[in-house]
Amino acid sequence: MKKLKVAVMISGRGSNMGSLARAAMDPEYPVEIVLVLSNKPHAEGLDLAQQHGLPIRVVDQSAFDSRGEHELGITQALQEAGAELICMAGYMRILEDAFVNEWRGRLINIHPSLLPSFIGLETHARALERGVRIHGCSVHFVTNELDAGPIVAQAAVAVEPGDDKNSLAARVLEAEHELYPQALKLIADGKIRWTGDDSVSDNNATADDVAIFR
Ligand code: GRF
Repeated sequence: MKKLKVAVMISGRGSNMGSLARAAMDPEYPVEIVLVLSNKPHAEGLDLAQQHGLPIRVVDQSAFDSRGEHELGITQALQEAGAELICMAGYMRILEDAFVNEWRGRLINIHPSLLPSFIGLETHARALERGVRIHGCSVHFVTNELDAGPIVAQAAVAVEPGDDKNSLAARVLEAEHELYPQALKLIADGKIRWTGDDSVSDNNATADDVAIFR
C-alpha cells in the first residue's frame, strides 16, 4: 500500500501528534509520519514522538533573524524528509504567506472550535462566555487568512452545565484526537481534496466521514 508521507509540526505538548502517530501504527492506515518538527527545542511532544520511534527535528526559531528565514529552514527540513502533506498540531506561530503559498493545498491544521466561530486563541473561554451549547473542533486547510481555510471535517461537543474552560477543553481535546486521524485519512484516501481555489471537493466523502457528534 502506497502511504502518504506526512510531517507533523508542533510547538508544545503534542497530544494531537500522538493521536496521529497511534493511527499510523495501523498497517492499514494510509499515512506514514516521516517527521515531527518543532520550532521549540524543549517541546514536550518531541519526547512523545521519540517514544513512538518517529524522526524528530528542531528548527529553532531563535536561531534565525526573521520569521521568513525560519520558515525557509522549516521548508528545507520538510523537503529533506520527503513530506507530501504537513499537519500542524499545536504549532503556535503564525505562518508567513510565502510558507503557506509554498505548501498550499498540502498544509492542514486542527483548531479547537467549530469554525468559523472562535478564530484565534482562548477558544474555550470565549465559547463559554458566548453561551454556545455546542462547541468542538475543526480540521481545515491552511490559507493566508488565520483559521479561515476550507474545512475538511469537524467534531461537535456538547457544552455541559457547570463546564469551565478546562473541563470543556479536555472534552474537545478527546474529540480532536478522534477527528484529526479521521480527517487526515480522508485526504490520504483522496476522498477530500483541495480544489486549487480555496475550497475542497468532497464528492466521495459521506456525512459520517466529515462530521463527528459526541
Ligand atoms: C490543540 O487544542 C489544537 O487544537 C490547537 O493547539 C492545541 C495543541 O495541543 N491548535 P497538543 O499540542 O496537540 O496537545
